[in-house]
Amino acid sequence: MSNQHVIVIGSGIAALSFAAHVAPECDVTLLTKKSINQSNSMLAQGGVASAWQAGDSVDQHVADTLASGAEHNEPERVKAIIAEGQTIIRQLLLAGCPFDKTRSGEPSLGKEGAHNFNRIFHAGGDQTGKVLVQFLSHQLGPNIRRREQTQVIDLIKNADNSRCIGVLLKNEHGQLETLRADAVVLATGGCGQLYSVTTNDPSLTGDGLMMAYRAGAKLVDLEFTQFHPTLLIHQQHVFGLVSEAVRGQGAFLEDEHGRRIMTHIHPLQDLAPRDIVARAMYNEQQQGHSIYLNIKPVSHFRALFPTITQLCQRAGVQLEEGRIPVAPGMHFLMGGIYIDETGQCDVPGLYAIGEVACSGLHGANRLASNSLLEGLVYGRRVALALSKQPLSQQGGDEPLTPTLTTTIQVPQISMSQLREQIWSALAIERNGAQLSKFFAQLAALPYQEVLIQDADEQAIEKSNCWALAKLMSQSALQRQESRGSHYRNDYPKPDPKWQGKQLIHQYGKLSI
Ligand code: SIN
Repeated sequence: MSNQHVIVIGSGIAALSFAAHVAPECDVTLLTKKSINQSNSMLAQGGVASAWQAGDSVDQHVADTLASGAEHNEPERVKAIIAEGQTIIRQLLLAGCPFDKTRSGEPSLGKEGAHNFNRIFHAGGDQTGKVLVQFLSHQLGPNIRRREQTQVIDLIKNADNSRCIGVLLKNEHGQLETLRADAVVLATGGCGQLYSVTTNDPSLTGDGLMMAYRAGAKLVDLEFTQFHPTLLIHQQHVFGLVSEAVRGQGAFLEDEHGRRIMTHIHPLQDLAPRDIVARAMYNEQQQGHSIYLNIKPVSHFRALFPTITQLCQRAGVQLEEGRIPVAPGMHFLMGGIYIDETGQCDVPGLYAIGEVACSGLHGANRLASNSLLEGLVYGRRVALALSKQPLSQQGGDEPLTPTLTTTIQVPQISMSQLREQIWSALAIERNGAQLSKFFAQLAALPYQEVLIQDADEQAIEKSNCWALAKLMSQSALQRQESRGSHYRNDYPKPDPKWQGKQLIHQYGKLSI
């Protein structure tokens, strides 16, 4: 019997964790739309959260995760993921992963919003994602074949539609190609590029979410989008993320007159949960204020935060002035493809890991630095599950041929206009009337049917963004309460009726 063949789509931490842990007998093709060095993981600054300090524990980390998630997490899953994450961090340390250390050789642990302990492992100061990507990339065996500049367009199912058996893609020469597999693992990340203001890499256009949806997988919790409070925005240009770790070192938010804005908002002040900080900033902006991150309390800023120092140089912001202009932007999708504990979706043969998936860890508002942890855990879980239970020949072996009559619907709106509109209607503060109007506008957009072989990369991305924005606005409209990152000014409080309820999109229907 031939080895099983697994396709992994994506090249961030979750994909690499999968590839680093999968059995050498498994043939893996890792497909990535851009290059291995282009992903949200590469941009991750703060780090990976895990209990290490005296007094801290898995239970404390679980408690902080649940408090941040606004009672929308799945507690049993949270506990299992955080405990497993701790084991993986210890294994990475033993394997020589270059996390930053103190003079005495202990891990140097940072602090971020809503954590009651210093438990953020970081590397290269603020280059944690990049260091981890490079470390894991070096662990990959010869069974992992990498293909870059390869845009996956759709998942392929078998004749009776019961199983995912491969993918349809555009290869590095722009030609359509099909690839058969015994299992497909989606590790495509989130959808930050739906928004005009985002920390996300330009490649993050929700492609994996929409492929899974078209294949019949459930998408859940799409109304829960996290806005990071501090993006460096100068002269209306978004330069990138300013890590929460900067506030963990004592920096604080102030307006143009030097008035601190978080003092009376939350007991944790500048280190309150992200949704609370982002909303406070939004309210200040609505009153005409500009917001700055005062970095005067941070010693050795340049050494601790080399990436942010570079961003400031690029933006022409002088660190000597002691403050950085900041504003909130789309950062992370808490919802995604519904998966079980093993990373499996409800389409046999299809798995999802990392931000594209909804594992129950994050609830309505992700705790800082829990996402790299989740990617490490689920990458390993799926690798071990597939290594233990090979699926060889499940996908059959007859050759697949692309259907050249397949079309996609490309809306007749520029990507920048679409992103601006999504930012206005589906952002930090929402309301029913605006969401209804927005959904109607999206639904009424004229579109062109384009044959798949004629559609370029941007057209495929725009079509996915449009379809996903419709699903997200339906979810945001349906959830008539405020919880975590989903804030409705017409329903400004959490409603116990909604607690524990998930909105599910599947086969064109929205249900609870
Ligand atoms: C940050 O460094 O502030 C981002 C960390 C995260 O999103 O978990």
